[in-house]
Amino acid sequence: MSDFFMNTYHRLSPVFSEGKGSWLTDIQGRKFLDFTSGIAVNCLGHGYAPLVEALSRQASRLIHTSNYFQSDIACAFAERLVKACSVAGMKKVFLANSGAEANEGACKIARKYSSEKYGAGRHKIITLKGSFHGRTITTLAATGQDKFHKKFGPFTEGFAYISGGDIQALETALDNSVCGLLMEIIQGESGILPQNEEFVKTAARLCAERDILLIVDEIQSGVGRTGTFLACEDYGVKPDLVTLAKGLAGGIPIGAVLGGEKTAGVFEQGDHGSTFGGNALAAAGGLVVLETVDQKDFLRGIQNKGGRILSAISSWNHPKITALRGKGLMTGIDISVEAWPLLEAAIARADGTRSGLLILSAGPKTLRLLPPYTISTGEIDEGLAILKETLDADA
Ligand SMILES: Cc1ncc(COP(=O)(O)O)c(C=O)c1O
Repeated sequence: MSDFFMNTYHRLSPVFSEGKGSWLTDIQGRKFLDFTSGIAVNCLGHGYAPLVEALSRQASRLIHTSNYFQSDIACAFAERLVKACSVAGMKKVFLANSGAEANEGACKIARKYSSEKYGAGRHKIITLKGSFHGRTITTLAATGQDKFHKKFGPFTEGFAYISGGDIQALETALDNSVCGLLMEIIQGESGILPQNEEFVKTAARLCAERDILLIVDEIQSGVGRTGTFLACEDYGVKPDLVTLAKGLAGGIPIGAVLGGEKTAGVFEQGDHGSTFGGNALAAAGGLVVLETVDQKDFLRGIQNKGGRILSAISSWNHPKITALRGKGLMTGIDISVEAWPLLEAAIARADGTRSGLLILSAGPKTLRLLPPYTISTGEIDEGLAILKETLDADA
């Protein structure tokens, strides 16, 4: 491990040098089945041939132009992305480089929309307790968890938090000081916690009635992760803004803010920008992801694989598992013991003969599984067997 990095991450021991499909190899030659996809990023697995080919081809043709210009590949990607999100009413996109940057863009659109229409003072953005929206000063402020609001103040003002599912609190919070409601349809970092349908539908109705923008953060739940292209599709709501990142370019940094009828035209020249946003290489990766994932059969495959994971784990009736939930290839497992030592134990199992398993936590006592969409059913079963063995140890 290198000492040259700032000490921001609680890291696990492997130092990886190669990946193929659902497998990663570390510098000691140990093999690991990857149930993390780089936290929902490598959605097509490692070294996915069409992605590698498209990136190599693009790298030799054109990597980047500034946003003084458009590139053919970014134009094709933007059109394909808007099409994939058209079921949620999206019409245009702004391309950025990360989830936090996408959420920043969405907050700016909400504030501009409101200030132009209603004047100053209607700038508050409501978010949900337990949410995670990023690590910039503004997206930390948007994140509804006190532990993120301690060391880096003053934070961007104008954010307030309510509990997901609390319709009464929603009714009260969405007053005439509010320009936007920002929510993850399924909270990822807090434990794969889906919002209940009535809450989401009421939120959409109240936002429409009060001309408050509904912003859906699909950075972890989007791009097919739950078995529909966007998780909000299943709730039948049409948000005003959708943010995406993570898996959107299969591992190349990317972020996107998509706007619908009310919001697609809010940003005007000079309002926003990003040097790398719309980068040709990221667009080439994104196009492969969209062409692969945004297909009925492929999405059905994600649903089926997710169903296999849920039914296998629930059939264990494991004494350490206190709750299980998930949608598509996004699974949360509450356990009665600390999660981190299990992540370490699943890794420590790897030696010259046996492979290890990479899993994530989402909170101190929740395990999170985010395998690549391309994982085979055999690999799912193999990984789950390691997970069970890890849970069984010291049971
Ligand atoms: C729901 C959600 N929003 C925003 C972010 C921030 O994304 P990034 O780390 O790309 O800035 C994350 C990252 O985990 C996330 O899960």
